[in-house]
Order: sequence, then C-alpha cells, then structure tokens
Amino acid sequence: MANLYIHFPFCKQACHYCNFHFSTSTSNRTILWEAIVKEYEMRKNEILLPLESIYFGGGSPSLLSPNILANFIQKIKKNHILNDNLEITLEVNPDDVNPHYLKGLLQAGINRLSVGVQSFHQSELSLMNRAHNKDQIVSALDQISKLFPNFSLDLIYGMPSSTLELWKENIQQALTYNPPHISAYALTVESKTALDYLIKSKKIELVDDDLVKEQYDLLVNTLMKKGFINYEFSNFGLPGYYSINNQNYWTGKPYVGLGPSAHSYDGKSTRSWNKANNTKYLKAITDGILPFDEEQLSRKDRFNEYVMTGLRTYNGISLDFVKQNFGVRYGDYLEEQMNRHLKDCNLYWDGDNIKVTQKAKFLTDGIASDLFKI
Ligand SMILES: C[S@@+](CC[C@H](N)C(=O)[O-])C[C@H]1O[C@@H](n2cnc3c(N)ncnc32)[C@H](O)[C@@H]1O
Ligand code: SF4
Repeated sequence: MANLYIHFPFCKQACHYCNFHFSTSTSNRTILWEAIVKEYEMRKNEILLPLESIYFGGGSPSLLSPNILANFIQKIKKNHILNDNLEITLEVNPDDVNPHYLKGLLQAGINRLSVGVQSFHQSELSLMNRAHNKDQIVSALDQISKLFPNFSLDLIYGMPSSTLELWKENIQQALTYNPPHISAYALTVESKTALDYLIKSKKIELVDDDLVKEQYDLLVNTLMKKGFINYEFSNFGLPGYYSINNQNYWTGKPYVGLGPSAHSYDGKSTRSWNKANNTKYLKAITDGILPFDEEQLSRKDRFNEYVMTGLRTYNGISLDFVKQNFGVRYGDYLEEQMNRHLKDCNLYWDGDNIKVTQKAKFLTDGIASDLFKI
C-alpha cells in the first residue's frame, strides 16, 4: 500500500505566513510540470502497490488545467495496480474555482478536494495576503459542495486580532456547507516570512496562547457535537471521510513524493527529499539526475516519530507495538516516562493503547516530547 504525492511549486501570490516551497514566477510552469512527469517516469518502479492515494499539493496545484491533471492520472492508472477506492485529492484555492473547472476535475478523476479557505473574515484574509476574497470562498464552496461528496476545508486559528467570537463565526460558516472533513491549524510564525517580519517589527501582535487554546477547544467541542471524529490533532472527519493520504502518512506507510521539495519515505528507515529549488530541480531532471538528499532514520528517530504522530492521532500509541518494533528497553522507557502524565490525567489507557485525554489535547506536542528518547 502506498501514497503518491505531487508538489506543484507555484502560487499567484505569497501568503504572509507561508514557508512551503513555492514561486510566484509565471515563467517555467509548463516545463517544470513536464519535469515532474519525467521524474514520475524515472521513479515509477519505487511506488509500492496497490496505490491507495494520489495527492496533488503545493504550492497551488489548482493552477494546473483539468486536461494536464487528466493526462497524468491516466498515465498512473495505466502503470499501477490501484486500490478499489483510490483517493485522488487536489488542493484547491477558492479563486481558481468555476463550474467548468470543477466539471473538468471530476472528469479527470479527482474525487476529493481540499479547499484552502483559511478564514471567512475579509480582515483576516487581507492580513494573510490570500489571493481570494470572501465572495470567492462563498461561490467556490457553493459549487464544490454540490458537485463533490468528498471535500475538506482548511482553516487557520490564532490569527493576530482574532477573538473567540470571530473564530466561532469561522467554524459556523464552514459548517453551513456540510463539509465531511475539516483541517484547522494554529497559526505558526515561520522564520523569514512576511508575518515573521511584521511581528518582529511590532507592526502586528500575536494573540496570547490562552486564546489559541480556547479556540482549539471550541473547535473540538463544536465539531464533535456535529459528529466529526478528531482523528488527528488538526484533522476532523465524519466517519468514512478520513483522508487516506493523511492516515497512511501518520501510520508510516511508504510514499513517493514528486516535484521540488517533495519528501519520500520507504516505509522502513529511509527518508529523502527533493531539492527545494525550481531551477536546480529542473536542471537535474533535464540531465536525467534525481535531485534528492536522504537520511537514514535511527531506531530512536523512528521511536520518537511514532510517539509524536501516534499521540496526535485518535489511535494513540501501543505499548505492545513499541516492544515488538523497538525492543523491550524502549517499552520500559515509555512506561517510565509516561507515568507523570498518567497521574496528571493528561494520558489514559484505552486497552493496550495510550491516548491523550480530552482536557490535555491542546498540550499533545509537549506531552509527546516528554516521552521522547533523547
Ligand atoms: C500546503 S498548504 C497550502 C495549500 C494551498 N496552497 C492553500 O494555500 O490553500 C496546506 C495548509 O497548511 C496551512 N498552513 C500553511 N502555512 C501555515 C502556517 N504558517 N500556520 C498555520 N497553518 C498553515 C494552511 O491551512 C494551508 O491550507
Ligand atoms: S498558503 Fe498556499 S497559496 Fe499561500 S503561498 Fe502557501 S502554498 Fe501558496
């Protein structure tokens, strides 16, 4: 079982908070896409079968035409054994949506959309420097919710000037479109972004952590009441609508990532990542060279990753799994480290699995790092 990820590294404009790899240049888009297709040809034998998920991310892959996507999907379908319910996701920016485009995506075989809404408030969209406005979100979601049974909405909380009331309105507005899946992320200030500069130069101020926690708790409580399962810290799905791509990723299944900056994992211990530079990527692929670096994950690295991703998911971490895969010493270490958090009711046992309690959810990453092997 495996995932295929394709990174399209172009955007219309730079969002102030974003440090994903992208370029706003309008030149080279076509030849870079051709290089990605060539990379696929060079690496297709690495893709383990059956293929369960194809994910077009970015950047803004909704800048690609349905025709281009259809040709690529056809190629993949011809070359690989596919899972019966193969998930094919496209990240879509609201300003790229129109009825013709959506119909083309359906015809191309895209069966899941992840819509980058981020906020329904124009003031927040402007602060983020998003390319879309509130009207474009409304129009995009109206159309998508009628045509795609499986779609997700991305939102960001903890924005400067945000309040609990503004965030509540964002959640309510999102729910009016009956999305079967929502991803909501706490704003992270990434270094060297415009947001980082605006904060450091005191032009804007971050909200305090207590508000961010209240916003997260409100999100979890509201969505749980609506039948969503918080299957990963930032991800909420109605039953049957959890993202296959995300779940495979968190459970350590292998994936192949194509395009500049895309990561790959062999499902065992080797992780690699393509050069996050469009020009260097293009040159290497044109010369028939794969432009990647790689690392071997040690037992300790894999244990720490298992603890971090496991605690963030609704399955938690399994002591048996740890003993079998990392050895008894790791199991003993884990039991010892988690005692304090069991006593403080931050963790609890669910059968053999250790999970984070409702009250401690917001603290998940901190709890996980207390259990790390150093
Ligand atoms: C790969 S990104 C971009 C997808 C698409 N280009 C878009 O902007 O809608 C996926 C999601 O990560 C989230 N994200 C990106 N940078 C973030 C940051 N600094 N803090 C919080 N969330 C962030 C946004 O919600 C975004 O939709
Ligand atoms: S958030 Fe999305 S649209 Fe904005 S710059 Fe990042 S990748 Fe591009």
